[in-house]
Amino acid sequence: MDKKNVEKNNVKDIKFIENARKPEGDLGDKILNRMNFSHEQLARWVCSHLTIDEGDYILDIGCGGGVNVDRFANKVAPNGKVVGIDYSKVSVEKTKNRNKKAIQEGIVDVLEGSVSKMPFKDNYFDLITGFETIYFWPDFVNDLKEVNRVLKKGGTVCFGNEVRYEDGQMDKYKEWMDGSYMKIYTDDELQSALLQAGFEDIELNKKDGENWICIKATKI
Ligand SMILES: C[S@@+](CC[C@H](N)C(=O)[O-])C[C@H]1O[C@@H](n2cnc3c(N)ncnc32)[C@H](O)[C@@H]1O
Repeated sequence: MDKKNVEKNNVKDIKFIENARKPEGDLGDKILNRMNFSHEQLARWVCSHLTIDEGDYILDIGCGGGVNVDRFANKVAPNGKVVGIDYSKVSVEKTKNRNKKAIQEGIVDVLEGSVSKMPFKDNYFDLITGFETIYFWPDFVNDLKEVNRVLKKGGTVCFGNEVRYEDGQMDKYKEWMDGSYMKIYTDDELQSALLQAGFEDIELNKKDGENWICIKATKI
């Protein structure tokens, strides 16, 4: 943690954002419980842009409290598979607890690991999602290349964020961004990163009256 930045900022906010970036300990556990509820409307809206079929293989990166893994498992069962990956031990535990039955049935797997290097074969998943997580990825274009590697040709990648970059509206996030706690991308930056990573057919959706974004792309 950058001490100078913490002194300059409200410590509670910094602790909160650090735990959103990588949940740890009791505070991380509480924040994940809260996110399972507070992100629900965003997640439903994002999912309304997705087509999910029985038998699909889905990867949810930064799976947090595991609510989206649960949602997807119900749609792909009995022949599909949902894998949740997260570099936070607490997130992995929460996702495992929430999906115990589906894990026993072989529909769900949950792994501790970083988006930057994932233990999956090339061309493996039909759909890869990330909800409220790309702000925290360490090397966005290269991380997207890793996502591209494990996605099947013709497969879809989809990210949902409840904070969108808007000119004149970014002061409230400035300290978090300056402190490298998170990065909020402009629409152009998101599209350009996806193109650089080899994706095509980029579709960007914004929700009326909210600051939400749902960005989808295809591996050709
Ligand atoms: C704000 S939480 C969102 C959790 C969940 N997706 C949701 O919508 O409620 C961000 C999650 O992304 C995970 N995360 C952040 N950077 C990551 C990385 N580089 N690799 C894997 N997981 C990451 C964090 O550990 C955390 O669980």
